[in-house]
Amino acid sequence: MQNNVGVLCKLAVHNKKIIMTVRQSSDMAKFKQCLKEAKHIVVLSGAGISAESGIPTFRGAGGYWRKYEASSLATPGAFKNSPSLVWEFYHYRREVAAKAQPNAGHIAIANYELRNCKDKTVTVITQNVDGLHARAGTQNLIELHGNLYKTRCTKCKEVLINNDSPICEALANRGAPDSKIVGSDIPVKSLPHCKKCDGLLRPHIVWFGESLEPTVLQKAGEVMEDCDVCLVVGTSSVVYPAAMFAPQAAARGAVVAEFNIEPTPATTSFHYYFQGPCGSTLPEALSD
Ligand SMILES: NC(=O)c1ccc[n+]([C@@H]2O[C@H](COP(=O)([O-])OP(=O)(O)OC[C@H]3O[C@@H](n4cnc5c(N)ncnc54)[C@H](O)[C@@H]3O)[C@@H](O)[C@H]2O)c1
Ligand SMILES: [Zn+2]
Repeated sequence: MQNNVGVLCKLAVHNKKIIMTVRQSSDMAKFKQCLKEAKHIVVLSGAGISAESGIPTFRGAGGYWRKYEASSLATPGAFKNSPSLVWEFYHYRREVAAKAQPNAGHIAIANYELRNCKDKTVTVITQNVDGLHARAGTQNLIELHGNLYKTRCTKCKEVLINNDSPICEALANRGAPDSKIVGSDIPVKSLPHCKKCDGLLRPHIVWFGESLEPTVLQKAGEVMEDCDVCLVVGTSSVVYPAAMFAPQAAARGAVVAEFNIEPTPATTSFHYYFQGPCGSTLPEALSD
């Protein structure tokens, strides 16, 4: 199946023209030397960087909420079918992320940017929606898939920051992930609504099947095109378009290092692979 440019979807197979096998190393000292010489550095992060903060990823045991595969609720169809169910899911995710703290991985990246911003550009491109990079102090941040603490009106399209907990009265004490809970029955009129036009609000998140914001996608593309070193952290590299960023950078000659607890479909196209929890591997890689 051909992808529409910029539409969020899971890749069935990686593009063989882009994924090529390179000679791979896990020599940390060598990688740190590359970082030292680099001028433009990108960190491309995914759900795995927040796993050590207690935020479930979409893969593995944490990939379920109640009986649902988490990614099946991150779709416009699911919201249309049951805005109540999808709001419960997002209310749960907002509450979990609000209580979580940035971990050693987020902090190592933010501190690296702070120490090096005079003579390098350091940009974080994240697929995460939990806000933890910003809370760790990252300044130069591109949030590809939106943010749990932003809402968008389905009618007038206004985007607003919203940190309310709960986001509305009707969602108080809702959203428990227990697989025995069946259905969701909050009337639509009691879900979050726009103060201006009274339209139903939705999370300002790019769902599967939806397009990334063109300006965000373009900015990420430019930064990827310019980088000489890219750190790919805690992402399964199966969610398009982000999944293609690092293999494309590696194919044009940038040094790419992957930090993950297990290999991914893209691992063999990267120059470095550092296996392990990134709360341990990143502080080592990004220390002076
Ligand atoms: N925290 C969040 O904001 C969050 C959480 C779940 C899903 N999502 C969304 O779901 C989609 C999922 O794609 P994805 O690739 O980001 O995540 P993913 O869930 O598909 O994959 C997570 C990856 O992280 C790795 N991982 C797990 N723990 C790790 C650790 N401690 N250190 C290093 N690596 C670790 C796993 O091996 C896996 O490859 C994205 O669109 C993202 O927006 C976001
Ligand atoms: Zn509105």
